[in-house]
Amino acid sequence: MSSSAKTYISELKNNVGKEVTLAGWLYNSRASGKIQFLIVRDGTGLCQCVVEKANIPEELFDQLKHLGQESSLTVTGTVRVDPRSVGGYELAITSAQIIAPAEGYPITPKSHGIDFLLKNRHLHLRSHRQWCIGRIRHTVVDAIRRFFNDNGFILIDTPIFTAIVGEDQQTLFEVDYFGSPLHLTQTGQLYLESAAMSFGKVYCFGPTFRAEKSKTRRHLTEFWMVEPEVAFIDLDGLLELAENFVSFIVAQVLQKNKSELEALEADISSLEKIKPPFYRLTYTEAVEILISQKAKDFLTQQLTQLKEQKQQIENRIAELEAQQAGQLKQWQKDKIAAELIELRSELAELDTKIENNPKHAQLAAEFQWGKDLGGSDETIISQMHDKPVFVTHYPKEAKAFYMKTERADEKVVLNFDMLAPAGFGEIIGGSVREDDYDRLLARIQEQGLNPETYGWYLDLRKYGSVPHGGFGLGVERTVAWLTGEKHIRQCIAFPRLMDKVYI
Ligand code: 4AD
Ligand code: MG
Repeated sequence: MSSSAKTYISELKNNVGKEVTLAGWLYNSRASGKIQFLIVRDGTGLCQCVVEKANIPEELFDQLKHLGQESSLTVTGTVRVDPRSVGGYELAITSAQIIAPAEGYPITPKSHGIDFLLKNRHLHLRSHRQWCIGRIRHTVVDAIRRFFNDNGFILIDTPIFTAIVGEDQQTLFEVDYFGSPLHLTQTGQLYLESAAMSFGKVYCFGPTFRAEKSKTRRHLTEFWMVEPEVAFIDLDGLLELAENFVSFIVAQVLQKNKSELEALEADISSLEKIKPPFYRLTYTEAVEILISQKAKDFLTQQLTQLKEQKQQIENRIAELEAQQAGQLKQWQKDKIAAELIELRSELAELDTKIENNPKHAQLAAEFQWGKDLGGSDETIISQMHDKPVFVTHYPKEAKAFYMKTERADEKVVLNFDMLAPAGFGEIIGGSVREDDYDRLLARIQEQGLNPETYGWYLDLRKYGSVPHGGFGLGVERTVAWLTGEKHIRQCIAFPRLMDKVYI
């Protein structure tokens, strides 16, 4: 074993010219004659390690040549700058030690179907893509806590077992609590409201459960939500808080995860534009946009673009299939096969979009004032903007019982959704809360909820009621938007989906 110090790949930049030892796993390798290139990952990054036959014992050279993907090992060598290498540095290996060889690792650099990958999530987490997403999620969570902790908010841990229906009676997960029915929390908001009357500015941050019978790319049954709640705030104050908050998260990710964003091919220049103020639309204005000629033209233009993209992919597939007919080395065959898998899945996605475009156009054109905005409506609005959009003042009937009505127009409530740009849709929902005892009681009764269960919640309107409000931001949807990941299931380590819990 060499005496050189163990170093992390993230620290190579401080060790140029020095001999270091890395401890990690073999991510990928290729050999050509007397030289091998091992890509090693160690949790902090990837590093290309160059093994020259002349520099190490022959036996070790052979062992490394046949070492399987994900074998664990240490490698020792001199750090060199190499802008072409992954990470910008490489190691010229002088010795190596195999810790545990791995054979037949199921996830190869070739493409695999999503079902296979979710079944193997415990291993798939090691892929570079999942690694990048996981690190960005870490920054998002850290930024969330930092923002609230540095702005005078007190953390309140709200319960997970509850009798309160916070959002929607259709999406409760019932549990048998020693013989009595309770359910898993849909939101910590109602508890936070009582804490806000003690601390002024509070937030909770934890797992949230919704039995959503919805298999869309935007829904999980267990997701993480952060919810701030503030006493003495109005709708404008909430919008300002939300845009500062989201801008801070984006700035932190840009500062700390540039290389991960690049590896994921995220839209960095669009993220750089995410600064206050965001766009503000009322629900009624959003509906006007949806039914307008402008939206129609936008969707028609989008359809043309989708068809062009489809044509390009079909051309590339034909080109690769023609190449397959020729004489090829094994690695060339593998490369073409991998690209074809990717292209065919892109093609399937495009076909779905092409098929959905006219349906979404029709839904938008026929949108009736009073309905909640659907996923496709949100997508259209958010695609038509280059920064997040606040949609405010929804019809009362489409929203939760606790939202305060606009007193000058009781049909609508003082609420907002924040839609992320580029079609990602709602990442935040929030509102001013009904602070009048009688109106709140009436809303609870209208919804068929038991006023006794909400006795403590009503008390807040009895003893020093004040205008107050807050919002909830979904972590996975935010990460999906920032990383450009299409499906939020990739934005949590172990996703819980309606139709399946894999591991
Ligand atoms: O809009 P929602 O339902 O708002 C509330 O729960 C409020 N009580 C929050 C508050 O005012 N304190 O949910 C807030 C956010 C959504 O915008 C979305 O980002 C996320 O939570 N979310 C989900 N994320 C993943 N899967 C689901 N099934 C989600 N449902 C909501
Ligand atoms: Mg919502």
